[in-house]
Amino acid sequence: MSTTYDTTSPAPARFLEQSDTPVPAPGPGELGVRVRASVLNPLNWTTASAGQDPQGPDWLGREVAGIVTALGEGVDGFAVGEAILGRVAAGHGGFAPNTIVRAIDAVAKPREISFGTAATIPVAGVAAYDGTHQIDLQAGQTMLILGIDGGVGLMAAQIGQVHEFTVLGTGPEASRDVVEATGATLVSDGDDLLTRLRHAAPDGVDLVLDLVGGDTLRIGAQLATDPAGIISAADAPTAVELGGAALERSDDALAKITGVIEYGLVTPHLTAQYPLDRLDEAIAVVEGGHAGGLIVIDVD
Ligand SMILES: NC(=O)c1ccc[n+]([C@@H]2O[C@H](COP(=O)([O-])OP(=O)(O)OC[C@H]3O[C@@H](n4cnc5c(N)ncnc54)[C@H](OP(=O)(O)O)[C@@H]3O)[C@@H](O)[C@H]2O)c1
Repeated sequence: MSTTYDTTSPAPARFLEQSDTPVPAPGPGELGVRVRASVLNPLNWTTASAGQDPQGPDWLGREVAGIVTALGEGVDGFAVGEAILGRVAAGHGGFAPNTIVRAIDAVAKPREISFGTAATIPVAGVAAYDGTHQIDLQAGQTMLILGIDGGVGLMAAQIGQVHEFTVLGTGPEASRDVVEATGATLVSDGDDLLTRLRHAAPDGVDLVLDLVGGDTLRIGAQLATDPAGIISAADAPTAVELGGAALERSDDALAKITGVIEYGLVTPHLTAQYPLDRLDEAIAVVEGGHAGGLIVIDVD
């Protein structure tokens, strides 16, 4: 038997009700995984808060790093005992000692990357990679990241530096040091944001990567030299209304961003690490909407 966390109830406290479930067996094309670390990211939280739970009771924890314990039928390229990182399969969750990952959503975990850091790659790292590649920017072009000081934003800023983009982004003044350590320029949130953005980028920007949505997106979008350069991971309807697009996931992003992190070109910004039995404390941080980065849950 394996303990998972019941997420069927709407209120945060009830995410913590434990239930015993059998260790899941991998189906065709799937890996059974002993979870070492998972991530509580805002994507979990916004989905849960909106009552969007298409996957059953144990879906929290969408990204994991761990050890392969069993191979489903037809799986090639992985071995029992191998360390991997990947997205958790539909119907399963990462806040549990054992879970299921589809082999096509997993890659080998490089030894240079800790399990905690590796767990941030399949969702946040992939979003940062895709968000900086969906539009084909050249060195010297300008990227504006709305919500630059979060888990996705700080990785996207570092990817922008690797590609020699000019990077600026919005976030709270308190995050100036962490943002500017990436080489990006912080434009602080608050009243009159549009004026400050226009001052920082008087010729406009080639890419607006939105990680906030709503009014912040409507303001930032006014900097775009071409509306097709507005990409949102947080508010697809508004991006489309403004002439832009939703963030799209690409097939090769997981392997690409894993390599970039392995070689030290991008370092995920971990805000905190909690053991699984303190998941309630981690949720309390994330539900406020200002976690300031990635919160890793050490499962094993
Ligand atoms: N589509 C996908 O595959 C995918 C994958 C990953 C993430 N996402 C989405 O991308 C977004 C960012 O994810 P993340 O992991 O980077 O989140 P995060 O770490 O919480 O960062 C969110 C950013 O948005 C800012 N923010 C939050 N509420 C705000 C508000 N009301 N006004 C202005 N700024 C605000 C935060 O600023 P503060 O520092 O002030 O909190 C922070 O800069 C989320 O919406 C998430 O659901 C999508």
